[in-house]
Amino acid sequence: MTSETNQRVLGDRKVSALGFGCWAVGGPFFDTAGQPLGWGEVDDDESIAAIRRAMELGVTFFDTADVYGTGRSERVLGRAVAGHRDDVVIASKWGNVFDEDTRTLTGTDHTVEYLNVAIRATLDRLGTDHLDLYQLHSAPEIPDALALADACEDLIAQGLIRGYAWSTDDPSHAAAFAGRPGCVAVQHEASVLHDAPEIFALCEAHGLASVNRTPLAMGLLGRRDHTRPATGADIRTAAPEWLRYFENGVPTREWAAKVAALREILTSEGRTLAQGALGWLWARSERTIPIPGFRNVAQAQENAGALTHGPLRPEQLTEIAGLLR
Ligand SMILES: NC(=O)c1ccc[n+]([C@@H]2O[C@H](COP(=O)([O-])OP(=O)(O)OC[C@H]3O[C@@H](n4cnc5c(N)ncnc54)[C@H](OP(=O)(O)O)[C@@H]3O)[C@@H](O)[C@H]2O)c1
Repeated sequence: MTSETNQRVLGDRKVSALGFGCWAVGGPFFDTAGQPLGWGEVDDDESIAAIRRAMELGVTFFDTADVYGTGRSERVLGRAVAGHRDDVVIASKWGNVFDEDTRTLTGTDHTVEYLNVAIRATLDRLGTDHLDLYQLHSAPEIPDALALADACEDLIAQGLIRGYAWSTDDPSHAAAFAGRPGCVAVQHEASVLHDAPEIFALCEAHGLASVNRTPLAMGLLGRRDHTRPATGADIRTAAPEWLRYFENGVPTREWAAKVAALREILTSEGRTLAQGALGWLWARSERTIPIPGFRNVAQAQENAGALTHGPLRPEQLTEIAGLLR
């Protein structure tokens, strides 16, 4: 990508067309039934080195959430960017309630009172006085969400956040926030295995950033060895119903076959599979900012390296659509 095309618009800011997703670097945490909600053990020093390597390679956008590792992800990201706060754009999320001592997600809270507590706790963990993007992480009814959007407008006026969004796959939720003055993005699932035409169109119509979570299909679109199982307290070992790509820690046969069909085209022109998957998203819409997760410096380097290759060509998108039909 050229220096012109490797940038995307996020509200009044320009950010790198690639963001980094900091869920995995929060380490293990669980729901009240003991279901793993993280990606297993991680080493904070390695996570910090990975974030710094990404910054060296031109990545300026980092996405986290208060609940990832029940606060640990925000603390690690804050440590990694300390001294360079003005060089990066940071997004976090609220809506889940958790216990940091037991590393347990205990529920949700959609009140304005909780929002006001949550933002201050997030700023404290990140070691910053403002957040660039604050995202609603849960799914209240639309009227309750709109009251939270109004409260986010107040947070903007107070200088605590620069913009807000709803992290949602429901186009009616995304539409409810679109057009409000401080709403600058939608965070939603999108990958070469999960197109999201309605939300892409909405982002284009309203000038919103389309922040793409799960761009590597939870690691499936990076895996060289499909038989290597995820282990330990990794959400993929005991996949909840919504997680469709893995079963018992390994990719399902159906999804592995789809990746096999796409491998040649995604790895064209010297790309790795993960780099090809990110190239599909950049080609799909000029609003997309994929935020792949990462566990180490090697993955950070490979994913940031996708910026050099840039978007796939339109005819490659057409070919991929034909292969997935
Ligand atoms: N509701 C929400 O708001 C929500 C939900 C989900 C995600 N998100 C955000 O979106 C981000 C990305 O989504 P995600 O983490 O679910 O999934 P993802 O980006 O599709 O997959 C991330 C995983 O892929 C593997 N990986 C990364 N780079 C790789 C590479 N170059 N080669 C091979 N494998 C690689 C790593 O796991 P292994 O090495 O263990 O395979 C990594 O943890 C999250 O970190 C989070 O910030 C938000």
